[in-house]
Amino acid sequence: MGYRLARRLALGTATFVAATLTISALGSAVAAPVATGAARLGASTPRIVNGDDPAPGDLPFLVALLDAYDFEDEGAFQAQFCGGALTTSTTVVTAAHCVVDDETGAVTPPEDVLVGFTRNLKAPSVRTGRVSAIQVHPSYDSEEVTFDIAVLTLAEPVLDITPILPMRPTDAPALTAAGALATVAGWGKLSATKDNFPDIFKVGRLRIFPNESCGGGAKFIIGGITFDGFGSGAAAVESMLCAAGVTANQKIIDSCQGDSGGPLVGGEGAAMRLIGLVSWGEDCAITKPGVYARVAAMADFLISTNALVSVAPILAPTIDLTVLNTALRVNFKVADDGSVPSSYTANATDPTTGQVFTCTGQPRVDLQYPFCTITQLMNNTSYSVTASISNSLGTSPMSTAVTGTPLGVPTPGAIRKVWSSYDRTIAVVVRRSFANDAPITSTTLSCAPINGGPARTTPVRGDWAILKKLRPTYYSCVIIATNALGSAASAPKLIRVTR
Ligand code: ARG
Repeated sequence: MGYRLARRLALGTATFVAATLTISALGSAVAAPVATGAARLGASTPRIVNGDDPAPGDLPFLVALLDAYDFEDEGAFQAQFCGGALTTSTTVVTAAHCVVDDETGAVTPPEDVLVGFTRNLKAPSVRTGRVSAIQVHPSYDSEEVTFDIAVLTLAEPVLDITPILPMRPTDAPALTAAGALATVAGWGKLSATKDNFPDIFKVGRLRIFPNESCGGGAKFIIGGITFDGFGSGAAAVESMLCAAGVTANQKIIDSCQGDSGGPLVGGEGAAMRLIGLVSWGEDCAITKPGVYARVAAMADFLISTNALVSVAPILAPTIDLTVLNTALRVNFKVADDGSVPSSYTANATDPTTGQVFTCTGQPRVDLQYPFCTITQLMNNTSYSVTASISNSLGTSPMSTAVTGTPLGVPTPGAIRKVWSSYDRTIAVVVRRSFANDAPITSTTLSCAPINGGPARTTPVRGDWAILKKLRPTYYSCVIIATNALGSAASAPKLIRVTR
């Protein structure tokens, strides 16, 4: 058995590079060696395009995946084909496409891969670890490159390297919110056009793209450069994240061939998490983002492969309530007790009849707080609500009780879109409220300068509202709907007015 190595193949500019980078079973070793050998002559090493050198001790959990046969014959530099991240003492997380033959679907035998624990692939002696099992995400699709994640189990535990914790659905969504900073690292190509690879890995500082640019086709601007997003036919945010960076002198920073499977890391210090894995892109460092496997969407797989340790929840959640018409929305805040919850349950007890109403919610990677909504309650009745969280290992204690009274006021509307906020004008598109128990008597837009000063209010007409002659400052705006039972305000939206 032999392999074509990603590094050797990384010549083309295929649209879905993921496909070309897979380690393929040897049968197809046709032309690859020629291209490779030649291309590598004189090359110093592989990396990220327009990246930086790491600081000493940076990213200790970054590992190189090495072809075991090439390692023996030619050393780590030639044998490296992908990156990975140590997430526990016995597990390395990488991209599925690094270890699946995209033609046959065969998973690489574990004995054919070595894990390299080194910064420098040309170090005189490179520490390696053997692999005892390779598991691929059950939903991995090599055509769509969805759920591009695999776990390598190490034959011997690694106890002297600090692993990185994979992002869990309970971690702050800010880690992967639009504009968040993240770091990618690897030994992949240094330039899209040349087959130039680094000895010591490179790091790139990237910004996370909004979901609308990663499957919704929207453009995104970073550091003065406008990036085209990927449309719905290409990227799918359920299992992918898009990211790219721009240097101070406006060069695009991107991962590239040979970086696949390597970590995209978000957060700082104790909150640092593995948020993505280098997966695919169009060419490298053009005005399209690189695409990463979204780790927070893979928690179940990571737990089942022991790459993420979960325990039974031991701490009760704290809850707060959003009052709705004949319903109460229960928002969960979970303390980090090391558990990865799989469901959120709340009960509302009717004080007079003792009848209990229940709801159950699922983890949401896109929201700060998971929630569930208890329905079929009576308006103007006070309910006592308690809640717990569960996973396959157990259920937390019950939260302290919170009381809530469903009301027949309108449901809150929303500012759907800010149409304009320049020329001292705010124009917004509104989602209107539902009347609930009594007809709505007024719907208004109300904007208050955040640094103080009087609020300005105007009626919503149709689904529009416009305020003119504002001050050039930040305003906090809400939509307020009123009926005979009271008023309901939308979530506030911060809008910057310019001249
Ligand atoms: N699939 C590539 C690999 O196997 C990674 C490509 C990433 N491309 C990008 N433009 N970010 O190494």
